[in-house]
Amino acid sequence: MKALILAGGTGSRLRPLTHTLAKQLVPVANKPILHFVMEQIAGSGIREIGVIISPETGPQIKQSLGSGRQWGVEITYLLQDRPAGLAHAVQTARPFLQNQPFLMFLGDNLVQGGVEEVVREFQREKPDALILLKEVPDPTAFGVAVIDANHRVKQLIEKPKDPPSSLALVGVYLFSPEIHQAIEKISPSWRGELEITDAIQKLIEGQKNIAARKLKGWWLDTGKKDDILEANRVVLDEYAALSNEGTLDEKSKIYGRVQVGAGTQIIESTLRGPVVIGVNCRIGNSFVGPFTAIGDNTVLEQVRIEHSVILENCLLQSVPGLEDSLLGSHARVVKGKSGHSPLKLFLGDHGEVIL
Ligand code: DAU
Repeated sequence: MKALILAGGTGSRLRPLTHTLAKQLVPVANKPILHFVMEQIAGSGIREIGVIISPETGPQIKQSLGSGRQWGVEITYLLQDRPAGLAHAVQTARPFLQNQPFLMFLGDNLVQGGVEEVVREFQREKPDALILLKEVPDPTAFGVAVIDANHRVKQLIEKPKDPPSSLALVGVYLFSPEIHQAIEKISPSWRGELEITDAIQKLIEGQKNIAARKLKGWWLDTGKKDDILEANRVVLDEYAALSNEGTLDEKSKIYGRVQVGAGTQIIESTLRGPVVIGVNCRIGNSFVGPFTAIGDNTVLEQVRIEHSVILENCLLQSVPGLEDSLLGSHARVVKGKSGHSPLKLFLGDHGEVIL
């Protein structure tokens, strides 16, 4: 069985960050989202992975994933010339997929616990498609499913204004080659895209066997700033470990699960986990509070920060209170005065704020 990762698209909802960075490469707990996806697919035993890329961000994705050797898999890159929809991406991948069943994983989705179990179930039971569903408070931003008492899928609608249920389609799908014929039958939606949801609906109308499973653990679609902060919170909460490869002076204190990378210096600072700090950072006279991830080579001097994601090579100086913030790489926030209320920032790469 093969896998197809969708890592094209525009990332418009994460601008300004995604003016320069592919949205699938935004880090959560200092690891690009796409790397979690790779780990989970490799963990399911699949070895051949096709990765859909766009002309704009394709080179970054290639650089980040390489040949796939790091995960023991073989990657084939598949260029989608325009972001014409999830089903269009599958059409683009047809020569790679051939007539085999496949796992499709949206490159900006994170699911708890991996996909090994669901891949095994699909291989054992051989339905025409298997979809994952999750109850969400506001399903209007997703594909929405209606299921009957026997968990059979009756209907799927993409981003309905008036959702018929609270069951959202998670961005992990398993398909038999039947999906290719279904895609031939659909036309672009109101947003001009060939929707995979519409193609699965065609399978339903053709009386095909569509299995649905409700995801037990958490699911995060990292499309917007607050989604990234939430993903960072959930992943740090689950995975952050206590490990210190840096140096800590005697005036500094670490509480809870804090991970400090090699070459990082902690000087007269307090770190309260769960927190992850990259390599070669300098944290001086600062407080780094829960659910914060700090990228490599970043400098914090007299900063109070919590619940934030700071990418690599940033400089934060005299910032008395920063929370719920997402800063792109090389961002600078400098020369603050104490006593201000917390700032809430969303800066792209090279963004600069002088307080
Ligand atoms: O996250 C789950 C949702 O994903 C589902 O509930 C929806 O039914 C499904 O349509 C999809 O909705 P989104 O609007 O969130 O999809 P998005 O445009 O964010 O694209 C998902 C991923 O696929 C993302 O990593 C970018 C990539 N992509 C997207 C398009 C439109 C491509 O590679 N090519 C494309 O043409």
